Parts: sequence; structure tokens; C-alpha cells
Amino acid sequence: MSSIESKKILLGVTGGIAAYKSAVLLRALQNAGMEVRVVLTQAAQAFVTPLTFQALSGHTAYTELLDSVQEAAMDHISLARWADLVLVAPATADFIARAASGHADDLLATLCLATRAPIALAPAMNQQMWLNQATRENLERLVKRGYLCWGPDDGAQACGETGSGRMLEPEALLKHAQAHFAPGSLDGINVLMTAGSTREPIDPVRFVGNRSSGKMGFALAESLRDLGASVILVSGPVSLSTPFGIECIRVETAEQMRSSVLVRVEGCDIFVGVAAVADYRPRHCASEKIKKHKETMTLELVRNPDILAEVAARGRPPFTVGFAAETEQVETYAETKRRSKGLDMIAANRVGTDEGGFESDSNALVLIWQGGREALPMMTKSLLAQHLAGRISERYHARTRS
Ligand code: CTP
Repeated sequence: MSSIESKKILLGVTGGIAAYKSAVLLRALQNAGMEVRVVLTQAAQAFVTPLTFQALSGHTAYTELLDSVQEAAMDHISLARWADLVLVAPATADFIARAASGHADDLLATLCLATRAPIALAPAMNQQMWLNQATRENLERLVKRGYLCWGPDDGAQACGETGSGRMLEPEALLKHAQAHFAPGSLDGINVLMTAGSTREPIDPVRFVGNRSSGKMGFALAESLRDLGASVILVSGPVSLSTPFGIECIRVETAEQMRSSVLVRVEGCDIFVGVAAVADYRPRHCASEKIKKHKETMTLELVRNPDILAEVAARGRPPFTVGFAAETEQVETYAETKRRSKGLDMIAANRVGTDEGGFESDSNALVLIWQGGREALPMMTKSLLAQHLAGRISERYHARTRS
């Protein structure tokens, strides 16, 4: 693919409060060397004005489908052909519904039908609207047609609620756009991943397990998907919904995770073990709930299989990436782990501090591979996942070339 500098982005702005961030996004894309033209829907103009985008971009901000003056500047078919990428940010629930139905009732919807360029949506809406089955089905249809979905993020919303539905920050959207055009894309590459933690049953109601929200693994799965990979995610119990365009297999125990991985590992190019797999499981699981008759209780634990090490030890192993959570001597222990398990790369993080880690939305990582390292400072897990996916892609291609 050619360099990012020459890329032409058609930025579609629809009518949500996040539209004010689209002006910052326009600037970020331009500063990264991309050429940008802007189309605003009528609803977008209730939040931001075409003049803002015209002044920032130095070009007409398009708003009308059947306007002779605007059509004279660049008609809608030429605009559709001009773009290397159509980025709709924010993409409201209404716009997603109209695109899913193939409407051509305004300029932006028409351009989406008329373009051959990839179309990326940056959803932005109230968290309940995002969770609504109608929105999910609409987006599912678009993803099946090849639309890219970048975000949304979790957090506080303009409506006062908290949840998923915030538009990704301009910086994160820029990263997505850059990753989209970067050489080292993962088109046609099969990725298998584990995420979340495992639960090893003691009796029908209790288990031994690790702390893990699954956020890092799910975010990484999305970033690898955005680079073009086909991603299968084997996940322990987490309260996260399956990301679009990713096949997610839900398991409970380490042994279930292992067998789900082993039946799918053949033909996989990259394996990433993000799961916090329980190292031990109770030797026996009581068939009935254990009653607290005794003052003390001893559980006999037996070692669980190491899924990551088993994948790395295969005859022709995929490019294998592991995670290491350490409380001290982070890099030394992680590198020892990388070598002893025969991994291509390991992502190490410090746990047991107040910042980052298991259930947090942010984290910091040190990536170590044969002959190199990179420290990724504290940032949101979705941004961290984008960096990590880019580095995995680069190292995977380097190994394939050598
Ligand atoms: N892993 C795995 N199967 C296991 C245990 C771990 O696939 N049974 C993977 C994890 O997904 C992660 C990496 O191995 O990528 C973590 O390595 P591990 O040696 O298990 O780390 P710790 O359990 O923290 O090891 P230790 O207690 O020895 O520090």
C-alpha cells in the first residue's frame, strides 16, 4: 500500500453531540498528512456549522445532494470516487440504520452507496441506543458488507449516563486510520486468541479463578480485526459483548479453553494468549454445594495445562504472543517466561500497583521480542491495543520474511 501522506479521507459528520470533536479529528487527519473533504448531514448542522469545517479544511464542506453550486465544486459521484476511505464520525444510530437499509436520501448516505472505498463508522450514541437490538442488527449487517467499525468507547456520556457508546477520541480514530493504511496489514491472516480468566469449579456454586475483566483481550481482538485479520476469540466468563466481526467462543475452565484452542489452532497464523488462565484447578469438584461444617478446609489443587506453551511447542507454531503480569523485576521475569515458553513476543505489565492492570480501563506494557523491546506508557486499553496490534503485525511480517 502507498504511504499515508497521499491518502484522501472523506469525513462524514452526522448529528450527534460528538460532532464537535470531528473538527479536531479533521485537524488531526490533516496534520498526519491526509487530504480531507467533509460532508455534513442536516442533523450534524444542528451541532456544528459547515463554515467551521470549510475554514479548517480549506475546501467546500458539502451538505446537499441536489445543489448546483456544491455539485459544481465536486459532484457526488466524483466525491465518492475521490475518497480512499470514508470515515463517518460520529456515526449516529439513525445514520447506521439508514446505511444498513441502503437509503440514498441525503448526500452522505448516497456517497456510502456510490463509493468503492472502504467505509469506517465511529459510532456515537446513548449507551441504551448502542445496546438496542435494532442498532446491533443494523451494524452487524454493515460489518457483513465490509464496513469497518471503530469504537465506541466506554465512559461518561453527554446525556449523563455511563456506558458504551462514546465516540472514540480523535487521536484514537487517527490511529485507526493510520493502521488501516499501514503496510503490514493483516488482510487474510488468521488470529486465534484467549481472553478473560478461567473458573475452576470447587462445587456447583464456587470456583477458583484469577482477576481479569477481559478488556485488554477484547480490545486487542478488535484492533487486530481492524488491521484486516480474521479473529477467533476464546474467552473465559466476562461481562463484555462480542465485538462485531469476531467469532467468540465462551468457555469456563482452563481445560475447556485448551480444547477450544487446540481444535482451532491448525491454520492459524498468529496466536495471542491474553487470558489469565488459572494455573491450578481443584482435583475434585463436589457434586453438591459444600456445607461449612468444619473450621478449616483444605483444597487439593492440580496443575492446569499451559495452553500458550503447548501452542508454541507445536511442530510449525504460529507467531506466538504471551502476556506476563509481574509484581517485581517485570522485564527480567517476562523475558525468562518468553524464552522458556518459546514465544515470539511477550507483553509484560506490572500488577499490584494502584494504576492500571486487571479491571482498570488503562494499562502500561513493555513489549519484548527477540532483539527488541518497546515500552508503551499508561494509556487506555483501546489505544494500547492499537499499538500492540501494530507491533504484532510488524513482528509477524518480519518473522515471515526472514
Ligand atoms: N497461560 C496459558 N495457560 C496457562 C497459564 C498461562 O496459556 N495455563 C498464558 C497466559 O495467557 C499468558 C501467559 O501464559 O499469556 C502467562 O504466563 P504464566 O507463566 O502463566 O504467568 P503466571 O501465571 O503469572 O506465571 P508465574 O505465576 O510463574 O509468574
